[in-house]
Amino acid sequence: MTHHELTVKSIVYGRKRFLKRWPALLEVSELTKSYHEVRGVKNLSFQVESGTALGLLGPNGAGKTTTIRLLMGFMKPDLGSASIWGLDCWRDRAELKEITGYLPGELHFMEQFTGQEFLDLIEGMHGAPQTIRKKQRDLLRALELDPKQRIRKMSKGMKQKLGIIAALMLDAPVLILDEPSSGLDPLMQKTFIELILEEKKREKTIFMSSHHFAEIERTCERVGMIRDGELLAIQDITLLKQKERQTFDIEVSGEEDAELLRQSGLTLYPLDQLKFTIQVTGEQELLWKTLAQIRVRRFQQGSLELEEAFMHYYHSSLRGDNT
Ligand SMILES: Nc1ncnc2c1ncn2[C@@H]1O[C@H](COP(=O)(O)OP(=O)(O)OP(=O)(O)O)[C@@H](O)[C@H]1O
Ligand SMILES: [Mg+2]
Repeated sequence: MTHHELTVKSIVYGRKRFLKRWPALLEVSELTKSYHEVRGVKNLSFQVESGTALGLLGPNGAGKTTTIRLLMGFMKPDLGSASIWGLDCWRDRAELKEITGYLPGELHFMEQFTGQEFLDLIEGMHGAPQTIRKKQRDLLRALELDPKQRIRKMSKGMKQKLGIIAALMLDAPVLILDEPSSGLDPLMQKTFIELILEEKKREKTIFMSSHHFAEIERTCERVGMIRDGELLAIQDITLLKQKERQTFDIEVSGEEDAELLRQSGLTLYPLDQLKFTIQVTGEQELLWKTLAQIRVRRFQQGSLELEEAFMHYYHSSLRGDNT
């Protein structure tokens, strides 16, 4: 057995041990792929540490699915490479399938199957230990999906749930998810976030694409922004939040409340005698302490600066500028 085969074996059969020895689990280096002259992705380099999640955000056609398909070894990169646990995403794609739970951006099911028959098929392909069964049942319950229904008769959201269950039930240490919450109603999007947080407790390494900043903010340590096939930036979510500024509009009940507010140490912009805009950076403890001490007639939270920044970033791509 070659050294390389040995590595693969120890990943598949002893992944816990391996995880500790390999800090950068997912490593992408100068990854480039174009589709017959059409730009796909260009010169992507990033890493995802073991047990953390990276969310990829970007407008339609930015290159998210292309990146994910390269990670899954569906295409050979033109240049550069991607690897997971030191396994090359293209060369070692068969081995990587064993350790990866994958949700495609566009689901193509065998429509004549029932949900259960489809899950049984996936289960069979992976040796079906008892734990898969249990996890499958838990996921079906959490997402409120009836597996007896034929896939042909399922709605878009129901099919998406089935795809999520198939990706998560294997309990794979790596999850690669292409727009996992698309088609889910708001309640189910919340449930999905809870499922991902549950996976994170089990030290899963997650790479997912999304159009919802809030979803990435809640589940990922880092967010990457891709546009026109290029990675613009990778940001640490905790750092972003610490630096985040938020505004609140407030109207207090009387002059004494206004005076308390002025003395609170909060950054204030007076609008008139009793109305103010409050600006808070990072920690909001002082704001809430102050609010507890004064009489408030009206209080309104301004939009989050972060979310606005991301919207701006989407818009500038529409205008085609690079700011
Ligand atoms: N099979 C293909 N053949 C030719 N061009 C393709 C193919 N797949 C993607 N592209 C092109 O590559 C670029 C990136 O597409 P990709 O599907 O990766 O975007 P995306 O970020 O996933 O977008 P969306 O948010 O719409 O899913 C686009 O310009 C697209 O037209
Ligand atoms: Mg896509």
